[in-house]
Amino acid sequence: METVMIILIAYLLGSIPSGLWIGKWFYKTDIRQHGSGNLGGTNTFRVLGKTAGLIVTIIDILKGTAATLLPLIPFFADSPVHPLILGSLAVIGHMYPIFAGFRGGKAVATSGGVVLGYHWPLFLILIISFFIFLKITKMVSLSSMIMTIIATIYTIIYTINTGDYSLLLLILIVSIFIFYRHRENIKRIKAGTEPKIKWI
Ligand code: G3P
Repeated sequence: METVMIILIAYLLGSIPSGLWIGKWFYKTDIRQHGSGNLGGTNTFRVLGKTAGLIVTIIDILKGTAATLLPLIPFFADSPVHPLILGSLAVIGHMYPIFAGFRGGKAVATSGGVVLGYHWPLFLILIISFFIFLKITKMVSLSSMIMTIIATIYTIIYTINTGDYSLLLLILIVSIFIFYRHRENIKRIKAGTEPKIKWI
């Protein structure tokens, strides 16, 4: 019973469509009808501004962290489900949210949150490299994809040193999702039409 519950809670946590709810409740705007149409932090920044964008990004990160840390709750302490499986379920919930017609975000922030919950030094490296590449490219999508490559390289070294394959497995699965969900961005980057941000 605990196993079914923990799996369900992880998916439902990821399913919280923060961009949709904050947009609708506080700005009377469905961000899926504007900008890139994506239900993520970047499009919230684009459509609703910095405050909403930051709040949505933080919530989306914390959804992944919270799911990964669920086994810390005493009720779930004996759960046989690996924290990274719980994190992956949150990422799936974020991409395919039950509360938003299964049309969600592109997996970046919530995957970052899973990394934060499981192995925070990598999260720190990813955040720093994200802003470095954002400064250079001005494209959130491209910087996000570069981040997944950095995460993969780091995790290969981490796996060799620790023998813990689980993080590498997560990063590889999540990377496939991230590239797949960015396929329209990739086309725009190639065509030179991907929007660039101005504030960095
Ligand atoms: O995390 C999503 C970001 O990489 C791209 O979002 O709205 O520009 O397609 P968007």
